[in-house]
Amino acid sequence: MSYGEDLPTASSTLVGPVATGPDSEAVLSVLKVRENTDPADAVNDPRNPPRKSVPLNKTLAAMLPTALQKFLLYDKVVVVTGGARGLGFNMAQALGECGAKAIVIMDVLQEPGDGAAAELHEMCGVPVQFYKVDIRDEKGVAEVISNVAETFGSIDVLVNSAGIADSNLKAETYEPEKFRRLIDINVIGSFLVAQATARTMIKSGNGGSIVFVASMSGRIVNYPQEQSAYNASKAAVIQLGKSLAAEWAPYGIRVNCISPGYMDTALNRVPALDAQKKIWRDLTPQKRLGRVDELNNLAVFLASDASSFMTGADCIIDGGYSLW
Ligand SMILES: NC(=O)c1ccc[n+]([C@@H]2O[C@H](COP(=O)([O-])OP(=O)(O)OC[C@H]3O[C@@H](n4cnc5c(N)ncnc54)[C@H](O)[C@@H]3O)[C@@H](O)[C@H]2O)c1
Repeated sequence: MSYGEDLPTASSTLVGPVATGPDSEAVLSVLKVRENTDPADAVNDPRNPPRKSVPLNKTLAAMLPTALQKFLLYDKVVVVTGGARGLGFNMAQALGECGAKAIVIMDVLQEPGDGAAAELHEMCGVPVQFYKVDIRDEKGVAEVISNVAETFGSIDVLVNSAGIADSNLKAETYEPEKFRRLIDINVIGSFLVAQATARTMIKSGNGGSIVFVASMSGRIVNYPQEQSAYNASKAAVIQLGKSLAAEWAPYGIRVNCISPGYMDTALNRVPALDAQKKIWRDLTPQKRLGRVDELNNLAVFLASDASSFMTGADCIIDGGYSLW
């Protein structure tokens, strides 16, 4: 199973009222296309399916207890890699719902990236910019991040969700090129985005929060599918997160990991995986896969001041899978 394409160039789409604003006709036509989508398609939508939310009202938010106010992301510019679909898209939506000033999604896929930007803007009411970029492309990533900092004034939160998975590949016949590609995306690509983002956070002097989406596979070996490269890559991401947390703490940058278990993403909803999914469920104390939005609240917590004393942590959300 492999997600993502080899498309190293960067380009962008902006949805929402910001300095270099979009052509509103173009935005409306994208929204119209999404509106006309057959509801039956929504079930198969890799974003699973998008849910409309009520934008946070600032007056009501001010009435929340202090503890809840700390979860709000007002004035924070949020970047989500892999935000075109799946877990990244869902986390981006939650961050927008909690008051983010702007959302930027970076993804290698033009569509659903364009559609995701339009939907996020419609659902959260904040400016949303989509950049098509391959996170392995050091120059492209640096350009995008510096463009974002220039357009929105800062980057306060980065959620590194872009990643690929290869599974059911036996180690003794694993092709080195395939192994390298996976490490290049999951580890080095994630590092490149974190590095470019941290540079802007250090320069601004305001710090920020970086969240890596690792996996329980960074700590356990999945069964029954063989996936040595993926497991190794996620272990590296967890240790990378800890190392960056220690190095960047003096700059006020916090770095934490979310490590999901099996999530019920559209990509896992294929008949070929039915037999394995039964095993995954049986081996999970909660006897189910995670819903696509079940990382959202942890992402908001780690992104926000609610977790201000937390850095270098690896938070497992797996229905208890890694307990057994
Ligand atoms: N789905 C699960 O069960 C599960 C479990 C544990 C961890 N994770 C991790 O969560 C993250 C998101 O997974 P998902 O299920 O939402 O997958 P997904 O394929 O739906 O989303 C991943 C996104 O990353 C993008 N991407 C891939 N390679 C890229 C590249 N080189 N440059 C830029 N963008 C790229 C893809 O285009 C895609 O939009 C991944 O890091 C994955 O390893 C997923």
